[in-house]
Amino acid sequence: MSEIRAKIDSLLQPVAADMDLMRGALKQAIRDDSPAVADMVGHVGSFHGKQLRAALVLLVGRASGRDTGEHPRLAAIVELIHLATLVHDDVLDGAEKRRRVACVNSRWDNQTAILLGDFLYSRAFGLSTELASRLPSRLLAKTTSRLCAGEIEQAAQRYNFEQGQVGYERIAAAKTGSLYSAACELGARYDGQDRYGEDDELGRSMASFGEELGLAFQIIDDCLDVVGEEEVVGKSVGTDVEDGKVTLPVLHVYAASDEATRARIRDIYTEPGVEGRARVLREAIDLEPGLTFARQRAEELVDRAMARVEVLPDSPARTTLEAIGDFVLGRNW
Ligand code: IPE
Ligand code: IPE
Ligand code: MG
Ligand code: MG
Repeated sequence: MSEIRAKIDSLLQPVAADMDLMRGALKQAIRDDSPAVADMVGHVGSFHGKQLRAALVLLVGRASGRDTGEHPRLAAIVELIHLATLVHDDVLDGAEKRRRVACVNSRWDNQTAILLGDFLYSRAFGLSTELASRLPSRLLAKTTSRLCAGEIEQAAQRYNFEQGQVGYERIAAAKTGSLYSAACELGARYDGQDRYGEDDELGRSMASFGEELGLAFQIIDDCLDVVGEEEVVGKSVGTDVEDGKVTLPVLHVYAASDEATRARIRDIYTEPGVEGRARVLREAIDLEPGLTFARQRAEELVDRAMARVEVLPDSPARTTLEAIGDFVLGRNW
């Protein structure tokens, strides 16, 4: 796994120094005097994820020539919001493992995890009020409510095999595309001036870049959930099938199947007492056409996103943005 970590670190080389500043700001932001909180914060803070959203704030800022001394703190805020969503999401999904260690809800319990998630959100927004501009608070408040609405909508659509690709993508874009989009938009638009009402073409274009990349990221994540191995992915897998989330690969196979196969798929999702539903689904149903379809859709979205960075001047940061597109498509964790 250190090999993959090294790959990400080398990928993010152009913003390595700012990533260190970001990590320092994040650590500082979640410090607390309560021993119980400090224990939990130590737990979630010591296992880094990919930190892609933070990196995007810095890379887009750098590639568009608009980075400021406050970008690392901005990146820390985005990463903190992401962390809060994960802590809550693991409660929703009944997950046990995250970033190769026990989730907060399994190491402690659901109640504690909800409170820790709230704590992280409040620290993120607290930090955003210290910035010179209100743009991040505004945009991230909007983003967070869209993200939560996406998670709520997803819960409402459980076991809905007829939601279609459009319905599925609306939810995936809301819960994941939204924060990627905000990271990229803020990276491009934040200039330390309190001009939150203004908008510009580059900001809009980078927002779309992030939205497309984030949607592709979620589609690949949903493929990994159904076919990935926990030891490689580093988090609980199979929870989508277990919890009734019908993701793109399954939706595609379901739509193309005859009624007997559809009934079999529904049974695997819903019959009581089925052990390891994702594995049973994989063994009973040929998911390959759905996985291929989903991966092609992710590729199409990444291609569209990459066309937007072409307008930026050539630079190491731009090259890294392009490499992140390939990373998102090729990742297995
Ligand atoms: C996980 O995001 C949540 C999804 C949107 C699928 P990441 O895979 O970026 O999580 P970390 O931060 O690297 O652990
Ligand atoms: C969650 O999606 C996305 C968030 C907004 C947290 P998933 O439920 O697929 O994320 P993982 O697989 O648990 O990381
Ligand atoms: Mg989850
Ligand atoms: Mg997932």
